[in-house]
Amino acid sequence: MIAPLDPADPAFARDPYPYYAHLRGQGPAVRVPLANGTHAWLVTGYEATRAVLADPRFSNVPPQGAGRPKGDSRDSPAQRARACLARHMLNTDAPDHTRLRRLTTAAFAPRRVDALRARIEELTAGLLREMELRLRRDGSVDLVDAFAFPLPVLVIGEVLGVPEADRADLRAWTYRVGSPADALEPGAVDEAWTGLHAYFTELIARKRRAPGSDLFSALTQDALPRDPAESGGGLDDGELLAMAFLLLFAGYETTMNLLASASLLLLTHPGELAAAHRDPARWPAVVEETLRHASPLEGTTWRHTTEEVDIGDGVVIPAGASVLAVLAAANRDPRHFPDPDAFRPGRYLAGAGDTRTAPHAAFGHGPHFCLGSRLARLEATIALPRLLAAFPGLRLTADPAQLPYRPGLLVRGPRRVPVTTAPLPARAVSA
Ligand code: HEM
Repeated sequence: MIAPLDPADPAFARDPYPYYAHLRGQGPAVRVPLANGTHAWLVTGYEATRAVLADPRFSNVPPQGAGRPKGDSRDSPAQRARACLARHMLNTDAPDHTRLRRLTTAAFAPRRVDALRARIEELTAGLLREMELRLRRDGSVDLVDAFAFPLPVLVIGEVLGVPEADRADLRAWTYRVGSPADALEPGAVDEAWTGLHAYFTELIARKRRAPGSDLFSALTQDALPRDPAESGGGLDDGELLAMAFLLLFAGYETTMNLLASASLLLLTHPGELAAAHRDPARWPAVVEETLRHASPLEGTTWRHTTEEVDIGDGVVIPAGASVLAVLAAANRDPRHFPDPDAFRPGRYLAGAGDTRTAPHAAFGHGPHFCLGSRLARLEATIALPRLLAAFPGLRLTADPAQLPYRPGLLVRGPRRVPVTTAPLPARAVSA
């Protein structure tokens, strides 16, 4: 018997793992009743998750009409903006996806991503100075608001080549479109969508005319390698617009949750924090273990079956079914991760030999494997050691077991991480 799943339930949002462990015990995929009266197939085992994500019979193209507001055929500017976002590459299958992916992969080449290191260091230092001022003034801050949210948005600003003067707008719009509609004044979310849409449209025109050295400029230029057999070659304006939205949302919410969850885990596991301070080579392992233990993307985007699929162990998913690969569950599969609920960065230490764990699935698998994984890892391995070195006396001011989490099945992370610090020396963060 499977209890209905309510993604809005705060207790589930905080700790969905017992529910997923129960599902995993039932088989590689289970048909689950959702609180809204519909059903979906949830895939919770590590092997099955990877198999589904690599199998073209699980399509990423949303069924026609999905996501359209019911009962209103008129498109407001905000709805048009949302429709643009929906055209992105995560919502495509081969061969469309193969073309978009090839063009985008070139812009995300390792040397381009690595070239962002110095800027990420500067942006981190700037936020830490702001955080120091707030800690001196107020005595406490919310780490999500002061650090985990703004840093990824600023970094995406670099990726998109958004001029310094426009960064505050980008930050404000992003904050609003990511907020529940009832948390803001009426119309604010729609206004933010419209603002982002107009801004990105203008940004693309500017980059086409005068490209910069940013990753996004590379996407707007014809110079990218193309297959002469393909019509069209580069990305058209609609595809670029969808890409700008995708990079913003795929890039900031996930990385925000990674930074927030890693900080929380380290503050609640002081032995691991001390070990990372003593041996900086442990930081990449801290990041990997956070990605596994607190997967920032709880589930991938929805798939649907284009035909009946037998996924083993006597489980057959019918054609046309909605399927969710639950990465957070796959990453706690005890068949691949011994003692899966424990936070143990040591399992990802280089040289851990036979005890080294399987690679986690936090960045997905198969053709849609995260394009920004290198950037996310770079950001986290720069930001976390600096944050925790700048404020050695940092501690939580709330019970970690009571912190609210983001609702829903897509992203997972604490909404707030309130902290205070021991009295700061004259200057905690170097200029
Ligand atoms: C901790 C941070 C991140 C996590 C956990 C993460 C996770 C993922 C996952 C699981 C997918 C596949 C989703 C699916 O199959 O439905 C994905 C796709 C994607 N991610 Fe990330 N991501 C992160 C950061 C980023 C960043 C920083 C960027 C870029 C700035 C980015 C850009 C993308 C793009 C463009 C795709 C779509 C790839 C495709 O459809 O081929 N991600 N990400």
